[in-house]
Amino acid sequence: MPANVDMEKIVSLCKRRGFVFPSSEIYGGLGSCWDYGPMGVELKRNVKDAWWKAIVQERDDVVGLDSSIMMHPQVWKASGHVDSFADPLVECKSCHLRWRASEINNEKCPQCGGKLTEPRMFNLMFKTFMGPVEEEASTVYLRPETAQGMFVNFENAVTTSRKRLPLGIAQIGKSFRNEITPGNFIFRTREFEHMELEYFVKPGTDEAWFDYWVKERFEWYIRLGMRKENLRLRQHGKEELAHYAKDCYDVEYLFPMGWSELEGIANRGDYDLTQHTKHSGKDLSYYDGESGTRYVPYVIEPSAGVDRSVLAFLIDAYSEEEVEGEKRVVLHLQPSLAPMKVAVLPLSRNEKLTPLAREVYKQLCPSFMTCYDDSQSIGRRYRRQDEIGTPFCVTIDFQSLEDNQVTIRERDSLAQIRVPIEKLEKTLRAKLSDEPFEKTPLWATRQK
Ligand code: GAP
Repeated sequence: MPANVDMEKIVSLCKRRGFVFPSSEIYGGLGSCWDYGPMGVELKRNVKDAWWKAIVQERDDVVGLDSSIMMHPQVWKASGHVDSFADPLVECKSCHLRWRASEINNEKCPQCGGKLTEPRMFNLMFKTFMGPVEEEASTVYLRPETAQGMFVNFENAVTTSRKRLPLGIAQIGKSFRNEITPGNFIFRTREFEHMELEYFVKPGTDEAWFDYWVKERFEWYIRLGMRKENLRLRQHGKEELAHYAKDCYDVEYLFPMGWSELEGIANRGDYDLTQHTKHSGKDLSYYDGESGTRYVPYVIEPSAGVDRSVLAFLIDAYSEEEVEGEKRVVLHLQPSLAPMKVAVLPLSRNEKLTPLAREVYKQLCPSFMTCYDDSQSIGRRYRRQDEIGTPFCVTIDFQSLEDNQVTIRERDSLAQIRVPIEKLEKTLRAKLSDEPFEKTPLWATRQK
């Protein structure tokens, strides 16, 4: 049975608690476009930060890049996207719904059973025009991947970083694909964010580096608290490989609709640099000072989706539990991913408690994403924080006015400890760095 929760519950939690809203909702929404709300934007930022930390900050063989979304149209000719980035599309002759041919099992429309047209190729790139004249010559594309920005900047990155190969270029940014059948919430959308690494290596060392990155990327999800049993690796069959790929593995996650791709790791060989050399006339080969040889580097590419990762982390963290006869919904997110790290909750809105509670809130804000909530009962406020995955709630009560101590309540264990206000920040900092929490057995054993 896939995942421990169905998608409707996740969609509903996301709407209720400010993670994800339908785009342009007051106009009835826009198909497969979503907006990240106050909690979603924090979670998404935390996922991207965790990726950047692991891929760029903690390594000396990867540099960052932020290239433009619109690129010279020749880039997409060279990359093969103009000619090959297409899905076979069929249309129902009765209800006129369009489907990816690969989704059709029995040659009939899945919606109404009507007859389907012959497949025709449909290019997934969004087109627009640059400048005031809408003509063929001014056509530009919204990038369908960030990768090409790294290939065309290969020489710039090598020269300015003064680093030798193996060298990676990493980028996080928006990509656009005019998907025929988007769906499953933020799993497949027409606008999404990529986290991509292009890792340039000497030919002959590519297979070892490919194995390294497949393992490294699989473990990244586990290090961030994802359950190992919900992850698997799947190698692409020959017929399935993209036009540029020599080999490819998908990291798959057990989503509510079944095992589906979370990230792809491809060995792209020398396809990209060779193509750009051919189309631009600029030699993109690399002189290797160590071996005294010149070659076109091979590329290993781990390519992940931010939105898909956010969805997988949400699903994996979701849990319904019973506490003292009441149901509680909790997101057991690892603290580094949790949108809010701490919630400051005065026991009530009593005017004697408010000044101290506000003071505690102000003290914590510079250190952690902290929220302040004094509306409704304390029980309801705990539930709200559980639902957004806040690891710690700090409660200020009347006793706090006497002894300058507050209560820290832990999301997962529900344990409560009392600490002096002057030690609060330090205590929370220690607890927050004490990752991971209780959820992941693999991590727990690793930590020992
Ligand atoms: N540069 C290689 C590349 O783009 P891909 O397998 O097409 O490879 C990589 O995409 C990842 O990007 C996928 O594993 C997925 O996480 C994410 N992704 C791709 N298309 C998507 C879409 N339409 N909506 C959301 N995420 C998508």
